[in-house]
Amino acid sequence: MDSADEMDILTLESSPENDAALRTKAEKVQKIGPEYKKITQEMFQLLRDGKGIGLAGPQVGRNERIFVTEVDKDQPRVFINPTIVGTSEETGKYEEGCMSLPGVFADVTRPLEIRVQAWNEKGRPFTLDAEGLLARVIQHENDHLEGILFIDRLSEPKRASILRKYHKKRHN
Ligand code: NI
Repeated sequence: MDSADEMDILTLESSPENDAALRTKAEKVQKIGPEYKKITQEMFQLLRDGKGIGLAGPQVGRNERIFVTEVDKDQPRVFINPTIVGTSEETGKYEEGCMSLPGVFADVTRPLEIRVQAWNEKGRPFTLDAEGLLARVIQHENDHLEGILFIDRLSEPKRASILRKYHKKRHN
């Protein structure tokens, strides 16, 4: 997608193309040019408009390894080409939702603490140790870059039941 185009959030089952975009492993950003300032600004705008805390490239039709988070107001964070380099052994359950699956919420088990390496929109590398909600949202968004949705982390019966209800609601 050209950054001049209007960005929009893709939701599951809105079209076969959107589903494919959400289910594709995203590609590495080759060069973090000045256009990434505008791209991330647009992503933050969609995030705030939708009252979300994290949004990944594939969710806005960008097949590249980028996501933004804003867990605490006034603490926007950009992650380009991120790698989760460490996770705690201790895991915990917490209810997650996703802007690409409106109305769906479920408890997901994940490591409680992580270490992530990435680049920001200015092309500066950083390493971040995160815990709590920030650690969770980073893992959720990082999954999007692999074409993984949070419902994929649930047991198969739970996932099937959620998808059945989601499908029914969408098509009624
Ligand atoms: Ni999501």
